[in-house]
This record gives sequence, C-alpha cells and structure tokens, in this order.
Amino acid sequence: MANVKLNIKKAELKEGKQVKVTANGKDVLLALINGEIYAIDDICSHRGGPLHKGLLDGFNIKCPWHGAIFDVRTGNVDPATTWGKHQQKYEVRIDDNGEISIDM
Ligand code: FES
Repeated sequence: MANVKLNIKKAELKEGKQVKVTANGKDVLLALINGEIYAIDDICSHRGGPLHKGLLDGFNIKCPWHGAIFDVRTGNVDPATTWGKHQQKYEVRIDDNGEISIDM
C-alpha cells in the first residue's frame, strides 16, 4: 500500500459536499462531513455510475444511475440497495499544509 497525494487541500473542499479526484488512475470520491474527509471509489460497483454526481445525505451517497446508497465512512452498500456491492474505502491523511493524501 502506498500513500498517494491528491493535489487538493482540505480548504478546497466544502462542508457537506463531495468531489471527484483521480489517484493512481482511479476515480475517487472525497466527501467533507463534520470536518472529516472520507474517500471511497467513485465508480459505482453496480454498473459504473459516477457517485460524485449523486446526492449526499448525511454520510450516504446515492448513485445517480439506479439509486444504490453507500456510506462514505465505510464504502458499505445500504442493506436496502444490495444491487450495489461494497465500495473500496481509503484512509485519508492531511499533512501540515492541508494537502490531502490517501492510502491505496
Ligand atoms: S450504477 Fe450505481 S446503482 Fe446502478
């Protein structure tokens, strides 16, 4: 596992919002919730929908294509929408300059 810098600072994120970044060629969703940053795979495990274009409600991101819901803290699919599979989640680190990196 390697620590991958994302070229984005915490200060660039907005509370309660999500963005897509690319890390090692993978699309990753970052969400800032209550001052904490969470990172999961952005490509939906169902049919490849772009999760960052979905609705973020609390810790839940809803896929814009067929509505699978994932918890951004764990990547786990909601038991009510099991057509999706658990998404990969990543540990997030923030350095002294506010730069974000993830372990992947
Ligand atoms: S592609 Fe995400 S729910 Fe189908």
